[in-house]
Amino acid sequence: MNAYPRSATANAGANIALIKYWGVRDATLNIPLNDSVSFTLDTTRTTTTVTFDPDLPADELLIGGEPAAPAATERASRHLDILREMAGVSWRARIVSENTFPMGAGIASSASAFAALTVAAAAALGLSLDTRALSRIARRGSGSAARSIEGGFVWWHAGIDDATSYAEQIAPPEHWDLCDIVAVVEEGEKRVSSAQGHLLAESSPFLETRLSLVHKALPRVREAILNRDLATLGPIIETDALAMHFVMMSSQPRLFYWTGATLDILKAIERWRDEGLPVWFTIDAGPNVHLICEANHRDAVATAARSLPGVRDIIIARPGPGATLV
Ligand code: PMV
Repeated sequence: MNAYPRSATANAGANIALIKYWGVRDATLNIPLNDSVSFTLDTTRTTTTVTFDPDLPADELLIGGEPAAPAATERASRHLDILREMAGVSWRARIVSENTFPMGAGIASSASAFAALTVAAAAALGLSLDTRALSRIARRGSGSAARSIEGGFVWWHAGIDDATSYAEQIAPPEHWDLCDIVAVVEEGEKRVSSAQGHLLAESSPFLETRLSLVHKALPRVREAILNRDLATLGPIIETDALAMHFVMMSSQPRLFYWTGATLDILKAIERWRDEGLPVWFTIDAGPNVHLICEANHRDAVATAARSLPGVRDIIIARPGPGATLV
């Protein structure tokens, strides 16, 4: 490589897990305790430009035009070290990142951020990597980022080590017009990050129970996705999200991510289903509720969600493409 600086831009979506990742076998490599399944989202995305410049004294990170907090810059810098080592260079980089969704909306940006950062940095360094290799590297930035490399419906094989833990597409985005309507009840940073939370999973007496449920659920979830069968998928994803939150709530120290508004939405969803609206929920490491429905019920679900007093905002997403160079 002889032309400096070297620059590339990539775009990647956040994803919503239908079977969740909670708990790590290896916290450095982010090797999870269980396989997980998600779909990559079309509207909640990150675009990142990475410019390697031998004249820069240190890595720089700008998010939404503002210098990032030192801890975030340090995390991005450690991620670039993996790619720098592969390319055999030590150049520092300027990272410029923009999200299509507000940082404080309670939507995890780490999956889209690390997927976009991985793809942009690999291209800027002239590394030619297939999606499996990119997924393995993205995983080390944030576990769920492994899934955002792929588009549509995605399965992350937990694996047992760096080589065997990567995500693969089950079905492309156009396979099924499933919607994720995020009912935002609280904005701002979560109190305990998922990186810290994963380490606590082993302290819960319910972890083993959840993992055995997950093993039974996984093949059924795959079938339901391939058959576009929301009536089968819905109850399974709700049970898994609740099981994950029971693990969180029973770990030491306890992790309560819900607020009163979270529970109000879960009760409303049961009511709406009784009234004939086919909608199910999942919840990540935060209080917001993701309402999962098919496209023909999107407007009705969005209107119903907006009518709840605790809902401050809603974000609507569908299955979207994987991480790509811009
Ligand atoms: O990738 P992380 O460390 O942000 O963990 C994601 C954890 C959950 O969002 C709660 C579940 C998941 O599988 O996305």
